[in-house]
Formats: sequence, structure tokens, C-alpha cells
Amino acid sequence: MKTRFEVCPAADLGPGERTIADLDGLSVGVFNVDGDYHALKNDCPHQRAPLCEGSLTGLTTADSPGEFEYERDGEIVRCPWHGWEFEVTTGESVFNPHRVKAKTFETSVEDSDDPETVETSEPASAKAGRLDFSTGTTADDADTEEKATTEDDRYGVALAGEEPPVDTYDVDVEEGVVVVYL
Ligand code: FES
Repeated sequence: MKTRFEVCPAADLGPGERTIADLDGLSVGVFNVDGDYHALKNDCPHQRAPLCEGSLTGLTTADSPGEFEYERDGEIVRCPWHGWEFEVTTGESVFNPHRVKAKTFETSVEDSDDPETVETSEPASAKAGRLDFSTGTTADDADTEEKATTEDDRYGVALAGEEPPVDTYDVDVEEGVVVVYL
């Protein structure tokens, strides 16, 4: 049966980032590649270097002589000792994918067993500016809330027309923690 390890809040590991965790004595690198999480044993199959500490790069390919293309940026980890390269998503080596492979582990994003894990990881700055939808204010507004007596005072502008005077943005909030199963 596999053992479940909570590594870090998903929100703390953005695309292109990695973290290296000691999971019950086993060093494991966890990577966020374009929003998906992947775990590799931090142990190069060549001569056991800390593979996950290597630089992240991409592949240079060529369909014909003299025409190069750089692709899959951030999906390849290069071993810091002798430069062997491995796909972060599969562990397969670039030069010999059928015979040389770094060990990978299953990952997922799940609710934490410890609710404080996610809560305490949130940057103070994020909490300070969060909008409370029930009141239309943020934590920063708390001090000035009591002084607001009219709608103009509260929002600092006079509302006009049918459209609200705000820009809206798509927000992708990653909840839960990154979990690795060994
Ligand atoms: S130990 Fe990784 S390439 Fe040699």
C-alpha cells in the first residue's frame, strides 16, 4: 500500500517552480509544469547526483539541417553533474528514453488532513487585500469602514450608469495541498 505525503500547499508551487522534500528519508523533487504536478526521485540514474536540483530547460529539435526549434521549455531537468536530461513529466531520459529513466511518483492535489496547512501558507498580503463579498470591503478597509457614511464615501467614487465601474479578471485559485504517494 502506498504512503501519502503532503508536500506543500498547491498555491505555493506555481508553474515553473519546484520544491525538494524529504519524504520519510527519501528525497523527492516536486515540479509544477504548466499547472500539473510531477514528482521525481532526487537521484540521477547515472551516478546518483541530486537530479532535481538541476536546471530546467527545454528541447532543441530540428526537422532539417540548419533549422532549429526550441520547445517544451521547463519540461526537461538537466542533471547538475554530467548534464543528462530527463523529462520531468515521465522521468524518461532524453537521449535514451527506453532504457534510462528517473523514478517518478504519483501526485495529486487534495484537501489537507491538517486544515492549518493551507490556511497558514497564505501570504499576509493576500489576506490584507481580500474582498469580503458580504460587505464589499477588504481587510484594509476595516479601519475606514466606520467613517463611511454614504456610498460615495465608502467606495471613493460616484457610481454612474448601468455598468459597475470595475474591471474584472479571471482568477485561478489552486486549493488544497500537493500530495505525493510513495
Ligand atoms: S550523475 Fe547525473 S548525469 Fe551523471
